[in-house]
Amino acid sequence: MRVRTAYRCQQCGFASPKAGTCPDCKRATGELVPLVEEREAPPPRGLHRRIAAPGTGPRPLKDVVVERGDRTLTRIGELDRVLGGGVVRGSLVLIGGDPGIGKSTLLLQAARALSDALPPVLYVTAEESAAQVKLRADRLGVAAAELLLWAETDLALVEAELDRVQPRALIIDSIQTVFLPQLESAPGSVAQVRECAARLMTIAKSRGIATFLVGHVTKDGAIAGPRVLEHLVDTVLYFEGDQHAAYRVLRAVKNRFGSTNEIGVFRMADRGLVEVPNPSGFFLAERPKDAPGSVVVASLEGTRPVLLELQALVAPAAFGTPRRTVLGADYNRVAVLLAVLEKRAGVPLGNQDVFVNVAGGGRALEPAADLGIVLAAASSFMDRPVAGDIVVIGEVGLTGEVRAVSGLEARLKEIAALGFRAALVPASSLAELRDPPVETTGVATVTDALRRLLD
Ligand code: TYD
Ligand code: MG
Repeated sequence: MRVRTAYRCQQCGFASPKAGTCPDCKRATGELVPLVEEREAPPPRGLHRRIAAPGTGPRPLKDVVVERGDRTLTRIGELDRVLGGGVVRGSLVLIGGDPGIGKSTLLLQAARALSDALPPVLYVTAEESAAQVKLRADRLGVAAAELLLWAETDLALVEAELDRVQPRALIIDSIQTVFLPQLESAPGSVAQVRECAARLMTIAKSRGIATFLVGHVTKDGAIAGPRVLEHLVDTVLYFEGDQHAAYRVLRAVKNRFGSTNEIGVFRMADRGLVEVPNPSGFFLAERPKDAPGSVVVASLEGTRPVLLELQALVAPAAFGTPRRTVLGADYNRVAVLLAVLEKRAGVPLGNQDVFVNVAGGGRALEPAADLGIVLAAASSFMDRPVAGDIVVIGEVGLTGEVRAVSGLEARLKEIAALGFRAALVPASSLAELRDPPVETTGVATVTDALRRLLD
């Protein structure tokens, strides 16, 4: 395309094909104003003849039809919920996670139902041999006739076969190990990963194939992995959890077809991933009775209330600056809450090491867990347990006030469902509670809460 260059005065708009100063401004004010280069591409040919296709173009808001998307269930309830009610045809779903967390296992299990609903399913294994995948399938009891396995890393070859195979669901395991031969960079490089994903997006959309990509992340997210793809794909799910513990949490961090922040909880067993329909019970399973420093909070994951056990350990610092270690909660938030506890409630933590952890590898990033963090730290410091049958809910402000939280009724329902006796809630929320399912006590300040639970 030919690019025209012009030089323009930024003060009066005078344009010239040559560089220099503006003669108009010089005449008018005597000032020497430099002309600034402007590049302008000529309009592409035929632009004036383009018209919108029939049925497209502007139309009244009320006439816009919302396409729910053509969804297919994987029949793994936890996965279907995180996807927003099954997988949408023609969508691109990225499943990210550490190596060994269970991504291949999950997708192989999903392929079982997909091969009934969207046959055939093409599983491209670019990491393991077809025999290895077959062994895993045997272990999982997946014996789908309409599941095609292909050990191939060349994405161009896969693309060339699509017309023959006509898959309706496609699994690429993993996006880091496939490559396009026309690109010079190595598989797994940013350029390859991005280009391969873009190509798969076009394939998914144009052929209406439900496509899953597996992407590995390292602990520091350093390699060209899911992060560079997040804006490209429709849905990003992260599979998290401690490799050494059995539970796994599947989390939607982006979803064009559903809500984010939904979680699905699984347990890795001998025969693959097993759904954990009641995550609260799971996170609380090993809770110690009457142990100082342990507090149960009700966190909201998307629309789903989940009870978590918060643990704090406060111990005199051996030397130097006291340590603050936080797992499963926000470090800065905990630092603020400890300062509030010290200043507003007079709990001296300045010479104490503080460790905060969410048991079972859960995450308590919501402000509603604030009061729980404060109470856990205070409970450990005083070496006095918080009653085991009470759940704590509330955001804590800098003046030590306990503030209202969203979704209180949903949280209380979960608390009742799990057999807890009572809940400590923000005093300001008490009035709006009609007929709470458990005994509720309102607290207005941190001091108030400490007095109620630790005196
Ligand atoms: P995998 O799906 O291969 O992880 P990823 O694809 O994310 O790298 O699963 C890895 C781990 O799961 C592996 O350590 C073995 C374990 N596993 C089980 O415990 N039970 C099973 O039934 C399967 C298939 C795997
Ligand atoms: Mg794998």
